Amino acid sequence: MSYVAENFPKTATIVEVGPRDGLQNEKQLISAEDKIILIDMLADAGVTSIESGSFVSPKWVPQMATSTDVFNGINKKNGVKYMALTPNIKGFEAAINANVDEVAIFGAASEAFSQKNINCSIEESLQRFIPLIEAAKKANIKVRGYVSCVVGCPYDGYIEPEKVAEVAEKLYQMGCYEISLGDTIGVGTPASVQKMLNAVKTRIPVEKLAVHFHDTYGQALANIYTALQNGISVIDSSIAGLGGCPYAKGASGNVATEDVLYLLNGLNITTNIDMDKLLKAGWFISEKLGKASNSKVSTALKA
Ligand code: HMG
Ligand code: MG
Repeated sequence: MSYVAENFPKTATIVEVGPRDGLQNEKQLISAEDKIILIDMLADAGVTSIESGSFVSPKWVPQMATSTDVFNGINKKNGVKYMALTPNIKGFEAAINANVDEVAIFGAASEAFSQKNINCSIEESLQRFIPLIEAAKKANIKVRGYVSCVVGCPYDGYIEPEKVAEVAEKLYQMGCYEISLGDTIGVGTPASVQKMLNAVKTRIPVEKLAVHFHDTYGQALANIYTALQNGISVIDSSIAGLGGCPYAKGASGNVATEDVLYLLNGLNITTNIDMDKLLKAGWFISEKLGKASNSKVSTALKA
């Protein structure tokens, strides 16, 4: 008898952030050609949302300097969205020139993190996003909004759920079609995540929420389970559990896509992603980085 979790979404969307969030924290530069191979393998595995790069200052994040070449080289597959992070109008224009399908802006619920990550206050960042969102509307490009540090900040410590809800609501009202809630340093547990979601859900419908967990303390899958129980069905993850944020010291990679898929398969939540092909994408990039995969499922199935 197969187990169907009650009240859980029947289908889920994985937003693969490995080529961006995963690689941005890797010191070893990966060539545009290898990033393109990785992205094509992910699309071939059935992943339909792939954050493939970012248009940020190359001085701040050198690994992302090849994003234009990456977007120009992808063998675009029908039905797949190729997305990019854009912090300002300059980044948005570069993204448009590289034919990205969708952009994401990134704000934070913590003042100190906002300063370290994008060199401005939360309020200044929101002001900066206004012309970007206007330009995106004109170009018919959807904008996703991230809120970082939704349970804790590497500089400010504990973050009030109400602060997260406030920033998330502002991004939503400004026109972001979806808000991805980021536990940037992976400190959340199901209890603190539930508390944060309770605050956010009073302001934004759950269908408009996504979760983005880093796995620093090994809590990401439990936190995703909590999000699913709340009806959230969009989950960000990173192939082979790559990554971390360069401006969040000690933050380890995102939860591994392979591990999230195993969880969703076990709950009978449909994604249409092929595990075997996904594993191969993870092994490819791990080999390029000369590192073991951070995915438990990958390690188990490779043995
Ligand atoms: P700034 O120094 O305040 O910007 O940086 P500025 O406007 O004064 O410009 C300084 C220089 O950067 C100039 O060049 C600009 O042209 C250039 P220069 O005259 O010195 O040669 N510049 C750019 N170049 C390329 N693309 C651009 C761009 N904008 C300006 N878009 C800025 C402000 C936002 C640019 C900088 O702080 C930055 O790039 N930050 C990005 C940091 C980043 O990428 N962090 C990681 C992503 S966030 C994350 O990982 C969290 C997330 O995963 C969710 C979670 O886990 O919680 C999303
Ligand atoms: Mg992240």
